[in-house]
Amino acid sequence: MERLKQAIRTKGNVLSNEVLKVDTFLNHQVDVELMGAVGEEFARLFKDSEITKILTIESSGIAPSFMASARLAAPLIFARKKKSLTMNDNVFVSKVYSFTKRETNDITVSKDFLTSEDRVLIIDDFLANGQAALGLIDIVEQAGATVAGLGIVIEKSFQDGRKLIEEKGYRIESLARIHSLENGHVTFVDELVT
Ligand code: G4P
Ligand code: NA
Ligand code: NA
Repeated sequence: MERLKQAIRTKGNVLSNEVLKVDTFLNHQVDVELMGAVGEEFARLFKDSEITKILTIESSGIAPSFMASARLAAPLIFARKKKSLTMNDNVFVSKVYSFTKRETNDITVSKDFLTSEDRVLIIDDFLANGQAALGLIDIVEQAGATVAGLGIVIEKSFQDGRKLIEEKGYRIESLARIHSLENGHVTFVDELVT
């Protein structure tokens, strides 16, 4: 998605060979116009997939999921990272290991919001090592629902996430695929010279 790539080029900040900071439009301040266009694009890509629910994870997955939910007329559910006060034990839980934080955390979704009838589009802001996405897939599978596909805003293609999800046979649509962040420079997969 050209507009997203342009935002990454002009507003993204390469912090290291592995980490891209996009706090001006996605992870802290939110560009609602751009996130609306991102959600619109997810809706276009999955319009024939009979999506009944969108599943993301708090907090940064929510903004890019908004317009997809509206356009596909499918409720948006965000997995929680901390158990909320009002959440009882009626939840699906999955363990998610973070390579960056070197810790494992539970993510939870109430059993009230996913059924075996659902066809779920999973959306997240970043695909890195894929652990969050695999946790969300695990929750959909626990519900006996169908993973209809994954929509990712920014994929770091030099990490393992895509491979792990493709091994499970699921469709992934990433709107920007980063080949490399080396030397402080963003190179996208689709602009590689071969
Ligand atoms: P890992 O693959 O490296 O282990 O990453 P992990 O899934 O543990 O992700 C840790 C957090 O960092 C996630 O956000 C994830 O979206 C984010 N993330 C991973 N790589 C990058 C990157 O290159 N740039 C940015 N900006 N974020 C990245 P989170 O902790 O769940 O926070 P939230 O923003 O969703 O609240
Ligand atoms: Na994030
Ligand atoms: Na996220």
